[in-house]
Amino acid sequence: MSQVERTLIMLKPSCIERGLVGEILSRFEKKGLKIIQMKFLKMSRQMVEELYSVHKGKNFYETLVETLEGRRIVAIVVEGRKAIDVVRKLIGSTDPALAEPGTIRGDLAIEIPDNLIHASDSPESYKREYLIFFKEEELQTT
Ligand code: CMP
Repeated sequence: MSQVERTLIMLKPSCIERGLVGEILSRFEKKGLKIIQMKFLKMSRQMVEELYSVHKGKNFYETLVETLEGRRIVAIVVEGRKAIDVVRKLIGSTDPALAEPGTIRGDLAIEIPDNLIHASDSPESYKREYLIFFKEEELQTT
Protein backbone atom coordinates (compact mmCIF):
# COMPACT_ATOMS: atom_id res chain seq x y z
CA MET A 1 0.00 0.00 0.00
CA SER A 2 1.65 3.25 -1.13
CA GLN A 3 1.33 6.88 -0.05
CA VAL A 4 -0.14 6.03 3.33
CA GLU A 5 -0.48 9.18 5.40
CA ARG A 6 -2.30 10.54 8.41
CA THR A 7 -4.55 13.53 8.85
CA LEU A 8 -6.22 15.40 11.68
CA ILE A 9 -9.99 15.78 11.79
CA MET A 10 -11.89 17.95 14.26
CA LEU A 11 -15.60 17.37 14.78
CA LYS A 12 -16.91 20.80 15.78
CA PRO A 13 -19.22 21.29 18.81
CA SER A 14 -22.40 21.30 16.68
CA CYS A 15 -21.49 17.80 15.54
CA ILE A 16 -21.60 16.52 19.12
CA GLU A 17 -24.71 18.57 19.99
CA ARG A 18 -26.61 17.24 16.96
CA GLY A 19 -25.60 13.62 17.63
CA LEU A 20 -23.71 13.22 14.36
CA VAL A 21 -20.42 11.80 15.69
CA GLY A 22 -21.26 8.15 14.87
CA GLU A 23 -22.63 8.95 11.41
CA ILE A 24 -19.49 10.90 10.47
CA LEU A 25 -17.02 8.37 11.89
CA SER A 26 -18.77 5.61 9.98
CA ARG A 27 -18.32 7.50 6.70
CA PHE A 28 -14.55 7.59 7.24
CA GLU A 29 -14.40 3.95 8.30
CA LYS A 30 -16.55 2.76 5.39
CA LYS A 31 -14.20 4.55 2.99
CA GLY A 32 -11.35 2.45 4.41
CA LEU A 33 -9.62 4.98 6.62
CA LYS A 34 -8.32 3.65 9.92
CA ILE A 35 -9.01 5.58 13.13
CA ILE A 36 -5.66 5.84 14.92
CA GLN A 37 -6.44 8.28 17.76
CA MET A 38 -9.54 10.02 19.06
CA LYS A 39 -10.41 12.21 22.05
CA PHE A 40 -13.01 14.65 23.34
CA LEU A 41 -11.69 17.93 24.64
CA LYS A 42 -12.77 21.47 25.41
CA MET A 43 -11.22 24.14 23.17
CA SER A 44 -9.48 26.98 24.99
CA ARG A 45 -9.21 30.40 23.32
CA GLN A 46 -5.49 29.72 22.82
CA MET A 47 -6.16 26.44 21.00
CA VAL A 48 -8.71 28.08 18.72
CA GLU A 49 -6.32 30.92 17.93
CA GLU A 50 -3.51 28.49 17.14
CA LEU A 51 -5.69 26.37 14.89
CA TYR A 52 -7.02 29.33 12.94
CA SER A 53 -4.01 31.68 13.06
CA VAL A 54 -4.09 32.13 9.25
CA HIS A 55 -7.63 33.53 9.48
CA LYS A 56 -6.88 36.15 12.16
CA GLY A 57 -8.11 39.57 10.98
CA LYS A 58 -10.65 38.19 8.50
CA ASN A 59 -14.22 39.40 8.87
CA PHE A 60 -15.50 36.00 10.04
CA TYR A 61 -12.68 35.38 12.54
CA GLU A 62 -14.47 36.40 15.76
CA THR A 63 -17.61 34.46 14.84
CA LEU A 64 -15.46 31.45 14.04
CA VAL A 65 -13.75 31.68 17.44
CA GLU A 66 -17.14 31.97 19.20
CA THR A 67 -18.36 28.71 17.61
CA LEU A 68 -15.49 26.85 19.31
CA GLU A 69 -14.14 28.64 22.39
CA GLY A 70 -14.95 26.80 25.64
CA ARG A 71 -16.90 24.09 23.81
CA ARG A 72 -16.31 20.37 23.36
CA ILE A 73 -14.95 18.92 20.14
CA VAL A 74 -13.69 15.51 19.02
CA ALA A 75 -10.10 15.37 17.71
CA ILE A 76 -9.38 12.38 15.49
CA VAL A 77 -6.36 11.06 13.60
CA VAL A 78 -7.07 8.79 10.67
CA GLU A 79 -4.67 6.92 8.42
CA GLY A 80 -4.92 5.65 4.88
CA ARG A 81 -3.76 6.02 1.30
CA LYS A 82 -3.73 9.75 0.37
CA ALA A 83 -5.71 10.37 3.57
CA ILE A 84 -5.38 14.18 3.48
CA ASP A 85 -7.05 14.57 0.09
CA VAL A 86 -9.48 11.70 0.64
CA VAL A 87 -10.78 13.20 3.89
CA ARG A 88 -11.18 16.67 2.38
CA LYS A 89 -13.16 15.19 -0.53
CA LEU A 90 -15.42 13.28 1.85
CA ILE A 91 -15.97 16.48 3.86
CA GLY A 92 -16.84 18.71 0.87
CA SER A 93 -16.55 22.46 0.26
CA THR A 94 -15.96 24.87 3.15
CA ASP A 95 -19.37 26.50 2.65
CA PRO A 96 -21.93 23.75 3.27
CA ALA A 97 -24.48 25.55 1.10
CA LEU A 98 -22.14 24.93 -1.85
CA ALA A 99 -20.92 21.46 -0.83
CA GLU A 100 -21.91 18.61 -3.11
CA PRO A 101 -24.60 16.15 -1.97
CA GLY A 102 -22.88 12.96 -0.84
CA THR A 103 -20.25 14.88 1.10
CA ILE A 104 -20.47 15.32 4.87
CA ARG A 105 -21.08 19.08 4.71
CA GLY A 106 -23.28 18.68 1.63
CA ASP A 107 -25.55 16.21 3.39
CA LEU A 108 -25.46 17.34 7.02
CA ALA A 109 -24.67 21.06 7.28
CA ILE A 110 -25.83 24.42 6.00
CA GLU A 111 -24.21 27.07 8.24
CA ILE A 112 -20.85 28.84 8.05
CA PRO A 113 -18.55 29.29 9.97
CA ASP A 114 -20.22 26.48 11.95
CA ASN A 115 -19.69 23.98 9.14
CA LEU A 116 -19.57 20.83 11.30
CA ILE A 117 -16.04 19.59 10.67
CA HIS A 118 -12.43 20.58 9.99
CA ALA A 119 -9.51 18.62 8.49
CA SER A 120 -5.85 19.37 7.78
CA ASP A 121 -5.12 20.56 4.23
CA SER A 122 -1.47 19.43 3.91
CA PRO A 123 1.16 17.26 5.66
CA GLU A 124 2.58 20.46 7.23
CA SER A 125 -0.85 21.48 8.58
CA TYR A 126 -1.32 17.96 9.94
CA LYS A 127 1.97 18.13 11.90
CA ARG A 128 1.11 21.58 13.29
CA GLU A 129 -2.54 20.79 14.08
CA TYR A 130 -1.75 17.39 15.63
CA LEU A 131 0.22 19.14 18.37
CA ILE A 132 -2.69 21.46 19.20
CA PHE A 133 -4.81 18.45 20.21
CA PHE A 134 -2.35 15.69 21.12
CA LYS A 135 1.03 15.51 22.80
CA GLU A 136 4.13 14.36 20.90
CA GLU A 137 4.45 11.36 23.25
CA GLU A 138 0.87 10.28 22.44
CA LEU A 139 1.85 9.70 18.80
CA GLN A 140 0.79 6.19 17.79
CA THR A 141 3.54 4.52 15.81
CA THR A 142 1.85 1.24 14.94
P1 CMP B 1 -12.53 24.94 8.52
O1 CMP B 1 -12.41 23.84 7.55
O2 CMP B 1 -12.58 24.64 9.96
O3 CMP B 1 -11.32 25.95 8.25
C1 CMP B 1 -11.39 27.33 8.44
C2 CMP B 1 -12.76 27.76 8.89
O4 CMP B 1 -13.02 29.15 8.76
C3 CMP B 1 -13.79 27.12 7.98
O5 CMP B 1 -13.87 25.75 8.19
C4 CMP B 1 -15.02 27.91 8.38
O6 CMP B 1 -15.51 27.48 9.63
C5 CMP B 1 -14.41 29.30 8.52
N1 CMP B 1 -14.57 30.07 7.27
C6 CMP B 1 -13.79 30.00 6.15
N2 CMP B 1 -14.23 30.87 5.22
C7 CMP B 1 -15.31 31.50 5.75
C8 CMP B 1 -16.20 32.51 5.28
N3 CMP B 1 -16.07 33.03 4.05
N4 CMP B 1 -17.19 32.91 6.09
C9 CMP B 1 -17.33 32.38 7.33
N5 CMP B 1 -16.50 31.43 7.84
C10 CMP B 1 -15.52 30.99 7.06
